Amino acid sequence: MLMYRIARKKPLNATVTLMDIEAPMVAQKAEPGQFIILRVDEEGERIPLTVAGYDREKGLVTIIFQVVGATTVKLNAKNEGEYLQDFVGPLGNATETEGLKKVAVVGGGVGCAIALPAAQKLHAEGCEVHSIIGFRSKDIVILEDEFRACSDQIKVMTDDGSYGEKGLVTKALEELIQAGNQYDEVIAIGPLLMMKFVCEITKKYNIKTVVSMNPIMIDGTGMCGGCRLTVGGKTKFACVDGPDFDGFQVDFDEAISRGAIYKDFERKAYEEACNLFKKEVK
Ligand SMILES: Cc1cc2nc3c(=O)[nH]c(=O)nc-3n(C[C@H](O)[C@H](O)[C@H](O)COP(=O)(O)OP(=O)(O)OC[C@H]3O[C@@H](n4cnc5c(N)ncnc54)[C@H](O)[C@@H]3O)c2cc1C
Ligand code: FES
Repeated sequence: MLMYRIARKKPLNATVTLMDIEAPMVAQKAEPGQFIILRVDEEGERIPLTVAGYDREKGLVTIIFQVVGATTVKLNAKNEGEYLQDFVGPLGNATETEGLKKVAVVGGGVGCAIALPAAQKLHAEGCEVHSIIGFRSKDIVILEDEFRACSDQIKVMTDDGSYGEKGLVTKALEELIQAGNQYDEVIAIGPLLMMKFVCEITKKYNIKTVVSMNPIMIDGTGMCGGCRLTVGGKTKFACVDGPDFDGFQVDFDEAISRGAIYKDFERKAYEEACNLFKKEVK
């Protein structure tokens, strides 16, 4: 059976980890914006994670994940040289970058891992990239050097002002727009509320805004309906129609309230799995 070796594991902060996975078939085709679905072991749940990078020659795919619940706890317990059961992809549509000359890329928290490959691709294509990355505080800042390397301008924001500039990414974005920067597009990836408020600003200035939607996904192939969203008044499936969508068309309030329905259920699953996990590692 095909297994997927963890070639590298690197903690980026206390709860976010980077892994390079040997998955040559996925590495061959992956593009920014796409995702994979993995299973840690045979009994494991399938979880979607974005392709945070790839090395086609070495056959490696980078994932960056936040430890939030049962499966990401299990994944984070794996070490270099160990194997994952399944690693399916690339799934979803690639981020469209063609023809863009000047773009603001806005990343919030672990959303920066999803935004980075888009910023890198735009930069490689000669586009002027202004990156705004935001975090709650200094100790959880990730990928700053990587963003610096592919950005013509960068603003690092923290909510509490412990690093970079104090304030939300929306403040930095509006300042850049008011300073006269004319963007062809804004790409915003992060918490739903962040993306909603970015869109409220860009609507005022009529700047096309692309957001990446990460609702609950089960099969990732358009069959289960778990990832449905309302976009432009129509039902869309994030896994096959997205994950990128026109931010002005997304019904964020519905997505936020749907997300909340799962929270309670998942917290229970997490507690159960954590207890199991604790027993396993004893
Ligand atoms: C297309 C896509 C790309 C993603 N990319 C990344 C990424 O690059 N890095 C990252 O840290 N996270 C990413 N996520 C979120 C990631 O899938 C969840 O954090 C993960 O599934 C949590 O599983 P868990 O068992 O550890 O936690 P759980 O306790 O099961 O859930 C914790 C939270 O994770 C989310 N979640 C749970 N199950 C799913 C699921 N099947 N599909 C989607 N979200 C779920 C929910 O918001 C939930 O509240 C992505 C999600 C999607 C849909
Ligand atoms: S995950 Fe099942 S339809 Fe999208």
